[in-house]
Amino acid sequence: MADKYLELVNSGFTKKLAKTLGLPRPAILRRYAPGAALLPGPVLLLGDSAEAQGVADTLLGWGLDVRRHAAGGEKLGGIILLLDELRAPGELSAPMLAAAGALRDLAPGARIVSFSRPAMESDAPAVAAVRQGIDGAIRSLGRELRGGATANGIVLGPQATATAPSALAALHFLLSGRSAYVDGQFLHIETTDGTLPADFDKPLAGKVAVVTGAARGIGAAIAHTLHRDGATIVLVDVPSAGDALAAVANEVTGTALQLDVTRADAGAKIIEHALARHGRLDIVIHNAGITRDKLLANMDAARWDSVIAVNLASQLAMNEAFLAAKLPGLRIVSLASTSGIAGNRGQTNYAASKGGVIGMVRASAPDFAANGGGINAVAPGFIETEMTAKIPVATRAVARMLMPSLMQGGLPGDVAEAIGFLASDAAAGINGSTLRVCGQSMVGA
Ligand code: NAI
Repeated sequence: MADKYLELVNSGFTKKLAKTLGLPRPAILRRYAPGAALLPGPVLLLGDSAEAQGVADTLLGWGLDVRRHAAGGEKLGGIILLLDELRAPGELSAPMLAAAGALRDLAPGARIVSFSRPAMESDAPAVAAVRQGIDGAIRSLGRELRGGATANGIVLGPQATATAPSALAALHFLLSGRSAYVDGQFLHIETTDGTLPADFDKPLAGKVAVVTGAARGIGAAIAHTLHRDGATIVLVDVPSAGDALAAVANEVTGTALQLDVTRADAGAKIIEHALARHGRLDIVIHNAGITRDKLLANMDAARWDSVIAVNLASQLAMNEAFLAAKLPGLRIVSLASTSGIAGNRGQTNYAASKGGVIGMVRASAPDFAANGGGINAVAPGFIETEMTAKIPVATRAVARMLMPSLMQGGLPGDVAEAIGFLASDAAAGINGSTLRVCGQSMVGA
């Protein structure tokens, strides 16, 4: 979506004026375009790890120039911090300060990505301390970066390594323009499962993906993104949205299925359609959702129950049908929301449904893994839609000051990119997790 404010504060005289007036100047984010370079410059690889050579070789294979020391004066596309072998808080100093020395050389849209291990109850206190400390340090660094640069981390579970397929796929996603609105977040790699795509521009080649709520908004963006990445799309929405659904289905050369996801047989209908029309079902995106906002004091049963029914109960019921059908390697991605994590005034019903999704994916992960698949969630924050574009420029500028990291809302496509990554076979080592796509706008996390 064209954004006049973003254009004005990033070009010519109006850029200077905005600077003089101290107006927030959100950067134009570096977003994915097929065939574009992975990073806008060389990558600096810092930290000692047995995996350093393997990671460096992979980066070279992706066409990047890799530096082990900052040269100074050279614009860097990214910094990778290998912190997975740290055993005490004092050991964090050297790599963090080495990164500090290179921060002023970061190109616009640069990426910082750390590799670390999870702090666990079984760890010695000093080990757990440094591991948890990395979490705080990277989230804070994300809030200090400018020019659309982001900082995120990859957390390697006990069975994972930095060169496990899903760890490398996560690294590729976080370096690329696909992660433009993911900031201050950690992707947890649980296993060494997964295969890297033959072509990173077509990671979903040959897959059949169902997207619910696909007639408009984020659902339509997901359909477009998954289609661009090589999947055949089944688009689901309520019969009353039939015309819009057919239009999006045409755009992505997919098939439309008019269906209310709260119907008891919704899962069965989806399986039947996908198998009859396309011969397989590999991916389901639970995107259909509604809001019925009211303060709890004014809440009625219709508002409460309908939100839980569409946003959560329908997903639980459909998942049971998918599990019973034993679809091999089925990967599910559900739409949560930052409201379900931080809470939001007037949204007790919606936050219950979205917090519920986060609990559901965590608890369902072993069942989907048993069939060689997985289930994860994406929690969007403030996403700029046609609706938010109508907010007056000045009001939007103030709202952006409250989003200190990237100073702007995300786009539906940003949510879709994260979903595409989690839906891919390369993400097989990620299961039961929730990834926020929120530009680090949430206070306290
Ligand atoms: P939207 O209202 O523009 O689109 C939702 C779609 O779901 C519509 O096409 C609607 O017809 C369909 N739908 C609703 N009930 C259905 C049912 N029972 N069966 C089948 N389809 C049904 O919403 P938007 O903004 O695109 O949101 C998509 C998802 O993302 C939702 O789950 C929402 O909760 C979530 N989300 C959105 C955020 C935002 O900023 N827009 C932020 C966080 C989460």
